[in-house]
Amino acid sequence: MQLITKSNNIMDIKTAREINDIRVAAKISSEVLEIVLKKIHPGMSTAQLDEIAHKEIISRKSKPAFLGYRGYPASICVSINNELVHGIPSESKMLKEGDLVSVDLGVNHKGFYGDIAETVPVGKISMSAQKLMDVTYRSFQQAYKNACCGKRIGDISFSIQSYVEQNGFSVVRDYCGHGIGRELHEKPEVPDFGRAGSGQELIQGMVIAIEPMVCEGDWRLRILSDGWTAVTLDNKLCAHYERMVLITENGPEILN
Ligand code: MF3
Ligand code: CO
Repeated sequence: MQLITKSNNIMDIKTAREINDIRVAAKISSEVLEIVLKKIHPGMSTAQLDEIAHKEIISRKSKPAFLGYRGYPASICVSINNELVHGIPSESKMLKEGDLVSVDLGVNHKGFYGDIAETVPVGKISMSAQKLMDVTYRSFQQAYKNACCGKRIGDISFSIQSYVEQNGFSVVRDYCGHGIGRELHEKPEVPDFGRAGSGQELIQGMVIAIEPMVCEGDWRLRILSDGWTAVTLDNKLCAHYERMVLITENGPEILN
């Protein structure tokens, strides 16, 4: 159901039926991500991960949501170390011990989207990489608690930004979280930076993807010549964590 707010923003408020369908899509996305992450080991190529994800998505009567999205050529994004998002899987890109790898995965199940991302270590990683991973995860754990009726998008954004900056890292400005449902990217945008109390009010029945994207150094990015891969300008490490959150009358509920 489309709701037009006082400030002329269009929000999508999901019906109970739609929420059930979104739950299924979200669940499939997390099942497949878990399988993919378990397969990660040094010496494998990122294309192998893409192949596993593709097969697991198809076998759940779903479609890989990213494949063909704006021309994206694979089923998942695999981004290593200084790559933040949209790393294209390749036969010639090998994971090695010490890498920090982000897998981002989307599914479409019966017309509804699931979207999820996580950053994991390959073997043993440095203490600073571990800290970056932990801060990214904890920024989500802190921020999603603001996904309550009556709060605003800015409360989530501010929570991510302040936690990350207190820990000496920076948040990305070029990409955002988003509403999700019958489209992969719906309104509202959910930035990783912002002012508490600002932005769209949160309403029961909204589903948003909250996705902290955190850099060890500067947050500025550039896109590689493949047209997709976003890397940090300073080539320092970065991490990404994404989950879908439903706003209910009893508070936030993580769907995947
Ligand atoms: N995973 C991105 C998001 O979380 C979307 C990637 S679409 C792709 O919103 F085509 F670039 F893969
Ligand atoms: Co997303």
